[in-house]
Formats: sequence, structure tokens, C-alpha cells
Amino acid sequence: MSQKNSFFHDPLMAAFEEQEDIGAQNLERTEFEVLSTNALSRRHFIGAGLAFGVSSFVLGVGSFPSRAFASGHASRLQFEPVVANGLDTVTVPRGYSWDVVVRWGDPLWSDGSVFDQQTRGTGASQERAFGDNNDGMAFFAKGGRTVLAVNNEYTNRPIIYGNRESQLPENADDVRKGKAAHGVTVMEVVRSADGRWHRVLDSDLNRRITPDSLMELTGPARGSDWVKTSADPTGTYSLGTWNNCGNGRTPWGTFLTCEENFNGYFSASDPAALGEEHKRYGIKDKDWGYGWVTTDDRFDVAKHPNEVNRAGYIVEIDPFDPTSTPKKRTALGRFKHENAELVIAHNGHVVVYMGDDERGEFLYRFVSAAKYSQGADNSNLLEDGTLYVAKFDNNGSGRWIELTPAATGMASKAEIAVHTRQAASAVGATTMDRPEWVSANPKKSEVYCCLTNNKNRGKKPNAGGDETPAEGPNPRASNNYGQIVRWRPASEDHTAETFSWDLYVVAGNPTVHSDAYAGSSNITADNMFNSPDGLAFDSTGMLWIQTDGKYSNKGDFAGQGNNQMLVGDPDTGEIRRFMVGPNECEITGITWSSDRRTLFVGIQHPGEEGGSHFPDGGGSVPRSAVISITRDDGGLMG
Ligand code: FEO
Ligand code: CA
Ligand code: CA
Ligand code: CA
Repeated sequence: MSQKNSFFHDPLMAAFEEQEDIGAQNLERTEFEVLSTNALSRRHFIGAGLAFGVSSFVLGVGSFPSRAFASGHASRLQFEPVVANGLDTVTVPRGYSWDVVVRWGDPLWSDGSVFDQQTRGTGASQERAFGDNNDGMAFFAKGGRTVLAVNNEYTNRPIIYGNRESQLPENADDVRKGKAAHGVTVMEVVRSADGRWHRVLDSDLNRRITPDSLMELTGPARGSDWVKTSADPTGTYSLGTWNNCGNGRTPWGTFLTCEENFNGYFSASDPAALGEEHKRYGIKDKDWGYGWVTTDDRFDVAKHPNEVNRAGYIVEIDPFDPTSTPKKRTALGRFKHENAELVIAHNGHVVVYMGDDERGEFLYRFVSAAKYSQGADNSNLLEDGTLYVAKFDNNGSGRWIELTPAATGMASKAEIAVHTRQAASAVGATTMDRPEWVSANPKKSEVYCCLTNNKNRGKKPNAGGDETPAEGPNPRASNNYGQIVRWRPASEDHTAETFSWDLYVVAGNPTVHSDAYAGSSNITADNMFNSPDGLAFDSTGMLWIQTDGKYSNKGDFAGQGNNQMLVGDPDTGEIRRFMVGPNECEITGITWSSDRRTLFVGIQHPGEEGGSHFPDGGGSVPRSAVISITRDDGGLMG
């Protein structure tokens, strides 16, 4: 805690790197040589394929009318592309405007405090304010009122504790502030006569859900020995949700928040308490600098071994009932949940697609046991069902493997719900390049997933020791640009066992590379980007792509500028840059107003390395924010 940290070195960033590197020590030299050789020959092969348009691997753009969109005719993307830049502001196309809706630390109630630039808030002020690092979000309307439910994923300690010498929490109130900056914010929003969106101060719908809020455990793990603790010997209620990354929503009006890097908050006073199951989930003897264990020993694995099994789930929240208890849906598995894309299959079953965002982890599908019925009580559909994990073959086909006790060798559905990664490894699922958001096309039966990047591809196994050959939907070794995979379920049935797949786009830099790292043919010097992450279809069937990548604008990333948002046409492969964010931010979180005339977008961690004053400028503290984007002619935003 006393260690002096440079503003330019966030210990969390270092911890991310460290925890993603585990498993390397298992790789013997002979194995490494084989992987490297395969990766090199594969890269060469793919490079040739891309350069000559040969269908050497499963690339969707190969079937697009080659660069037809480049000539400008018949494009469905009706905006002027934004040029990549490194400006400390938001850039949108001509004819569009943006505005700040809410920033980290803005009070939700009149008994809160205006954000203090000097202290960056206290525990008390943060508990009454919008949380930090907003991520996934969804807009809901009911009975003439509208709310935004927004994830507050984590904090950048050099920013939130920028008032401290150590840039870390130094006392109990600092820890209280940090915890309160996590979780979920639900707030009523209105659009005033001047066209600007505002939060409604003191609305009875405003709510902060934090790492200390009561949650109900539902599904197979509920009541099992895996989740019982001294504070909850029945294993039915847990405290809190944190590291809430992407989101989902249900047709019955609930918000799904997805617990991602839950591991980084735990530590172990006795390292002997840590076993293989902790290693698989990245739980170590030290936390990532949040210090929650200093005020709450449930974050000490040596004292409360099962507390870690009560995090890493998808949580369902009713945004219009502030008194409701959020429900942890253990049937959807425990891993580093990115988002939750829910579709109703033609046969009525609820299908939820989910990525596990870590190098070499997996892509999952949940199929509900019961069926959705419009107008009926659907509130427990996510309580019971079957989990599947994806296996991609190299020839463009794939299948969903059911995670049952028989298939996995595990004792029960409860064990599969808690140790989902191990279950998926047991059935030989395909190790992926960090699956981030999944989105389903509303116009046809196809689903897309961002595979953001994976520097370990072809070099190191995942944390469970599963190998990561460069092949199939993860074709490039040392993949620093990412790609988007899509699949079409057999017979247009989202519950079918099999699917076909291809790559919608392979990101790259054609101004630096001429091999596979140049990207697919729908990547040009004008629309190139790296590390696709957030992903959402609009109602017209266009695909919005948000990035969380390198913004150095140098070397492999020269000309790509700050993180950004692009729009893709799934049919032609055309991709056009719509927006560029401020310095050192990630663009993440996307939702539309009911009338589709406002697009809400998240600007996360501007200035994470000390180089931004977004959104207030001057010498102000950089603050994550939700922004609104509208057309100046009042037209539809998708
Ligand atoms: Fe929170 Fe995988 O992004
Ligand atoms: Ca993400
Ligand atoms: Ca990311
Ligand atoms: Ca992020």
C-alpha cells in the first residue's frame, strides 16, 4: 500500500498481463517448437491466401462482392466516415452531434455531492453517485418512464486515488469509495425540450447496486456445498456483484449484468489455500490492488474458501423495481462473463450466447428448459437449462457440446455451474482468441462474436493447459489485431447441435503488413482498427463494432488512432468508421432510446495512462461517461 506508483503505471494493467500469462510454465520446449512451427507455416499459408484471394481458410469476405463497396455504390451506410485521430474528444460524422449524459461521480440523489476534482469523492459521496468505468448498458421504457441500467465495471486506481501519494486505497474510506464505484447504476433518464438527455435526480427508480448489495443465488449451484460460506450456510444468498462488463437484456424487461474479472479482488493470507481450481480462474495470493480484503475478509480465500464460487455469474436485475433482489443465474455458468446475447429460438426456448474473455477460453450457449411465452410469467426461464460449449472445425462447420455430468465426468450440474471452465476443457472445446461481446442479427439466424486479440495464440496454452493452435476461427499466431467470427445455426434453429461459421472480418493494418496481419479484404487504410470488443446489431440489421485496443498510433497500430466505433454491413462486408473516442479510452456499451433517435455509447477510462481530461477539459480529472449521439435532422440512429 505504501509503494509509490507512477501515474503512468497502473498496477491493475500489470496484473492483467501477469494473470493472463499463467500456464506458460507448463509448455515444454518440444511442444513449443511444434506449436511455433505450425504457427509459422500457417501464417505463411494464410498470408498467401489473403494476398491472392484464395479461399485458404474460412473467410466470409471471400464471398462478398470484392470491394464493391469501395466504389461507393449501393452502400447502406449513410454517413461520411470519420478519419482516425488522436484528439482528446469524441468525433462523429458531419450531421451528427454528441453530448454527455452522465459522468463517473455525478450524484443521483440531491443528498449526494457534486464531484470533487481534488478528492475525487469519498465513500459516502460515491455511494450516492454514478459509478466508475461504465461498460454494458441498456435502455428500458415502461409506463411512460425510461431508465438506463449501466454497468460500472472497475476503477483505475491512479485516477480514483489520484489524491493519494500511493495512488492506491490508503484507508477504509478509500476502500469504501472504490467498492461503491463498482457494480450497476440504474437511473431514470429524460430528454428535455432542448433535446438533451438528463438523469432524474431523486427518482424513485434510481438505484446503486454494489459489491455489498444482497443477491439471490439461483439455479444448479444454489444450496450446493460449493457456495456455502460461514455467513451464508444455506448457499442461497451472496453479497454483491463486481467487475460488471458487458450486458444482455431479456424480452421480459430485465437487465443482465455479466461478472467478468471477479478474481482480481480476492487474495489468500495463506497461499497453501490455493489449488488448481483457483489457478484456472486466476485467483492468486495477491489481489490487483483494490484492497477490499483489508475491510472485508470474505475476499481472503484462506478464510472463506467458497466466496470465490459466488462470483463469476450473470446476474438478472429488474430495472423498474428498486426493491427487487438481483438474481445470480448459476445455470449460465461461472467464468469471466463478457456479455449475454439472448434470442428466442423458433421453438420457444431461450438461448443465451456468452463469451469467456481470457486468452484461450471458450464460447458458450445456454438453452432454457422451459419455453418463452409472451404475456406469461417468464421471470424464471434463466433458472434451469443446459449449457453447451462451442467446438469449431477447420472446414467451416461446428457443433455445440452439451456440458452434462456424463460428458464432463463431473458429479453434478452444480459442479458444472461452478467449475464451468474445467467442464468445457474436459469435452475438448475450441480455445478462442478472448471471446468478447456476442450479438445476434435481428434479420436472419446468424450470430457474431468479437475475438478481440490473443498474443498467446500458437505460443501458450490457456490456464487449464489446453493448447491454442493457430487454426479455424483463430487463424493467426500472436494475434494482436483480433477478428469477428459468425455462425449460422443449422436449419435456422438456435437450439440446433450444429452450425456453419466463417470470419466476418479479420482486423489488421494493410499500411504496415502485406500478409495475414494486413487483415481481410474489407479492411483498408481508411477503416482499419484493432481489438474489436463491444458489438451490437441495430434494428435495421447493421452491426456496430466498438474497440478496446492499442491507441499508440505507432508501429503495428500506425494510423489507427484512438479507440473507436465502426458500423458494418453483414451482407456486403463493408465497414465504415463512425466515431473516434478521446485519448486512452475504450468505447464500450451501446443502447438505443425507444424511438431509435438517440444512440447511447460508453466512454470508458479516458486518460488511463494520464493523457486525457475528457469530458470537461482544462486540467480536470478524466471521467468515464455515457454519451448520447443524435442526428442533427432528428433522424433514426438505427
Ligand atoms: Fe470487460 Fe472483456 O471486457
Ligand atoms: Ca469488453
Ligand atoms: Ca477488451
Ligand atoms: Ca474495459
